[in-house]
Amino acid sequence: MTDDSGTDDDADASGPAVRGDRFSGGPARGFLSSLAADAAIFEADLAVDRAHTVMLAEQGIVDDAVAGEILAALDDVEAAGHGELPDGEDVHEAIETAVIERVGPDGGRMHTARSRNDEVATCIRYRLREDVLAVAAATLTLREALATVASDHVETIMPGYTHLQPAQPTTVAHYLLSYEGAVARDTSRLLDAYDRVNRSPLGAAAFAGTTFDVDRDRTAELLGFDGIVRNSMDAASSRDFLAEAATAAATLATTLSGLAEDLILFANKGYLELSDDYASTSSIMPQKKNPDTLELTRGVAGDAIGEATGTLSLLKGLPRAYNRDLQRAHASVFEIANDVREATEIAAGAVATADWNEATLAEAAGEGFSTATGVADLLATAGLPFRTAHEVVADAAATIDDGDDPGTAATKVDAAARTVLGESLFEHVSRDDVERVLDPAASVASRDSAGGPAPDAVTKTIAAAKRRHEDDAAALASRRETLAAAAEELDDEVRRRV
Ligand code: ARG
Repeated sequence: MTDDSGTDDDADASGPAVRGDRFSGGPARGFLSSLAADAAIFEADLAVDRAHTVMLAEQGIVDDAVAGEILAALDDVEAAGHGELPDGEDVHEAIETAVIERVGPDGGRMHTARSRNDEVATCIRYRLREDVLAVAAATLTLREALATVASDHVETIMPGYTHLQPAQPTTVAHYLLSYEGAVARDTSRLLDAYDRVNRSPLGAAAFAGTTFDVDRDRTAELLGFDGIVRNSMDAASSRDFLAEAATAAATLATTLSGLAEDLILFANKGYLELSDDYASTSSIMPQKKNPDTLELTRGVAGDAIGEATGTLSLLKGLPRAYNRDLQRAHASVFEIANDVREATEIAAGAVATADWNEATLAEAAGEGFSTATGVADLLATAGLPFRTAHEVVADAAATIDDGDDPGTAATKVDAAARTVLGESLFEHVSRDDVERVLDPAASVASRDSAGGPAPDAVTKTIAAAKRRHEDDAAALASRRETLAAAAEELDDEVRRRV
């Protein structure tokens, strides 16, 4: 019979204090144990044990003297470190055994009114919230880099692409801000996920509550949670918060992979040069400068998507309430959060330190008759139906070469107008205006709709990005302050009692 109460009848003084000898050997022992992976929740479990013990004492469930001894033992266990824990099925069992070794049988009172089920669910959330905040902080660093470099390149013309073909000229600032906007949504998704992660399951016990008069709000407060997960069965068994965090990380990683891919292509075309700090050399070809950091950033997305999928797959169809499958759900989410955080910081560094090659970009911006849409817009503004204007310009596109200056190109558009309309282009628009819209910089300057690439529009986008960055940084800081204040309160309570 599964028993996670720590009170097996067959406990044996020579075996682990919590389990007796039921699982002391046999081929399944290693398979059952999560002790090594639980290093990630060692600190979390100590905090959970402390908060639970303080609450048990406050509620008169465990007397003050025993609570003090348990808390002192936990200090000692912490000082020794995860590596010194006795054997156990998991960190919860091992810490409890270590406490009992130090305190004697009274140490077993620590596990009153709880189960490993609510305990582990609490530890996972306690740990994961830090990871989620760290990823969110990295998105702020990246957004700052994107907006700062954008401010330096409001007028730097570059080609914009669709289907990887030159489509319309834009600016480096407009391009970078496209990612700033996307990453800002990643920040929001992470902070949203955080708010659902940061709820306490503690006090749910195995899933069915407890007869003891526990104060769930008090342990939630001591652990910095914003409240409790009320239904005890939901609290002990749900892991949707893991899927949500993994998905938020995977969505960010997917955004990063697009940015990385673009920068790899741009470096390849000579549009930008990566700083040596973010490039790598070939071990055999001395002339090479490879964008390896960005390739690894792109690669992290694959792992992150796998993690999100894996988490959902593990959870799919699990019956209520607790099943041991859950033991495999969280460690890899902590790891992917760390990888995505790192990839985000690397992307930020690569963006902040890259050199954009303005001359090469300006030249490339006019390639592929990229100003064609501007000419069609001009004709439509002059009164031609847009579809007819499109036809004229499409006809001209077949004759225009990359090296053509605006004057030559205007003459070619005029020839196309004579074919399509049966009259000169200049019956509708002036030659000067046509030459102006054929110039990439003028083309960009004319597209000044909200959020467009014209310098004025981009300047407003940068200002909005800065305001949103400040708001998000404040939201992040206030969550961290809440956690720090709770950690301090818990520590005060513990110090008063040891
Ligand atoms: N290490 C376990 C986990 O991570 C703890 C819960 C064990 N509970 C049980 N009913 N066997 O899920």
